[in-house]
Amino acid sequence: MIQLHDKHFVPFINAAEIDTAIADMAAKIAADVEDEVPVFVGVLNGAFMVVSDLMKHYTRPCEVSFVKLASYEGTQSTNEVKQLIGLDKKLEGRTVIIVEDIVDTGNTVEELKKMFEAVNVKQLKIAALFFKPEAYTKNIKLDYTAFSIPNKFIVGYGLDYDGLGRNLPEIYQLK
Ligand code: IMP
Ligand code: MG
Repeated sequence: MIQLHDKHFVPFINAAEIDTAIADMAAKIAADVEDEVPVFVGVLNGAFMVVSDLMKHYTRPCEVSFVKLASYEGTQSTNEVKQLIGLDKKLEGRTVIIVEDIVDTGNTVEELKKMFEAVNVKQLKIAALFFKPEAYTKNIKLDYTAFSIPNKFIVGYGLDYDGLGRNLPEIYQLK
């Protein structure tokens, strides 16, 4: 068990399971995009580790970019999604894969979709390492999800509780 600030967390998904799932996701994306050179657009801060490992497993040519959004306060999603770093306009005409650490209510994914309406991309796909189906309130299709998990707060592998826990190589669940 570990403690971050005032809360305790127990081990949930180990590093080897995460790596296998990400390798599998990279292979699926490669098979789908065929000869396109995709741009992986990571959603900071949480997705930095997923993007890094996903790209290492993606053996064909690809590019990377980032946006920065924030909606979480403590262990709760707020309905307001703040845009802290916006989109790169050079994404026009490209195959874009949005890379999220986790999709919870879907507010962030909805905001991302809106941001991309202003850019004429060739195709847009959404990849998320974790998905909480019980918390999801949108009709937006998620193209790649590695783990569907219960509606419980998790940390590690990029995900934080008030700033802490992002450096953990495995996933912990709120006790
Ligand atoms: P959504 O907008 O409610 O779908 O939340 C998406 C964002 O909230 C994610 O990209 C994460 O940054 C954060 N988030 C959602 N669930 C968790 C969690 O269980 N632990 C840590 N961060 C989370
Ligand atoms: Mg995130």
